[in-house]
Amino acid sequence: MADTLLKSALADIAAEIDESFDRLLPLPGDPRDKLYAAMRYAAIGGGKRVRPLLLTATAGMHGVDREAAIRAATAIEAIHVYSLIHDDLPCMDDDALRHGKPTVHCQWDEATAVLAGDALHAFAFEVLADPETSGDPFVRVELLRTLATAAGAQGMAGGQMMDIVAETSSFDLPTVTRLQQLKTGALLAAAVEMGGILAHLPVEMRIPLRGYARDIGLAFQIADDLLDAEGSEEAAGKALRKDADAGKETFLSLLGADRARDQARMLVEQAVGHLASYGPEADLLRALARFIVARDH
Ligand code: IPE
Ligand code: IPE
Ligand code: MG
Ligand code: MG
Ligand code: MG
Repeated sequence: MADTLLKSALADIAAEIDESFDRLLPLPGDPRDKLYAAMRYAAIGGGKRVRPLLLTATAGMHGVDREAAIRAATAIEAIHVYSLIHDDLPCMDDDALRHGKPTVHCQWDEATAVLAGDALHAFAFEVLADPETSGDPFVRVELLRTLATAAGAQGMAGGQMMDIVAETSSFDLPTVTRLQQLKTGALLAAAVEMGGILAHLPVEMRIPLRGYARDIGLAFQIADDLLDAEGSEEAAGKALRKDADAGKETFLSLLGADRARDQARMLVEQAVGHLASYGPEADLLRALARFIVARDH
């Protein structure tokens, strides 16, 4: 039951996000076509769309209009896609494969990949600032601030810096936890928060959702690290065994696979526990939490 609910929700959100990028990023028919083509190549037709699903599931269970939620979900996915384009660059992880196809710098060149990332970054904020996303300027500013904070030095970009430093320093568990919270947790948490912002949720109703988001954020990165060590490259659509080769301190290097797996499962149960005040309307968030550790890609 939970499985069917999740499967159809994942399929629906994948189609809606593809359609949204397709509609919002038409080729201009001038010398910028190469830039738009690279943005579309990275943004359309790949990825699990976990952040969009978190956002739309949270918004949906509080009665937000689907179209508004999809616009905000497209914005957060644009930030995620940009982060992956830059993460794959030779100066970062130097990866040739993403979502089972050549990475943007391999398909075109590094300059195009840098610019496609830059442009998707800006595009996200343009979408959020548009009155079509919300007619309420306070909601728009809150969405903008939440996504900006989660993407920048206090969030994803800060975590990516720590991740690079982790290759040459020996971080302890609290430091690795902080790294992962920034690198991965911040955007996942922003997805849930943005759903709550669109729903005009009062602060006291955001607290359990924040607890949920924090726990699944860590569980998600533990799962990514486990997949890196044990997963199938074909299912993942990207090169694996990168972390250990890079000498990177991760949950896995610190805890070992078995304890890391136990920790991820515990975090998921804890995340679901935060949703105790909700009824069946939160079943999708519950199923998504379980998917995060059970996934093979
Ligand atoms: C991969 O994120 C990078 C991390 C932040 C760990 P996802 O696993 O959500 O990537 P896609 O978009 O589904 O490929
Ligand atoms: C990337 O983490 C996280 C971000 C892009 C913010 P990883 O480097 O572990 O992601 P993969 O394994 O390449 O997807
Ligand atoms: Mg990386
Ligand atoms: Mg990488
Ligand atoms: Mg990884």
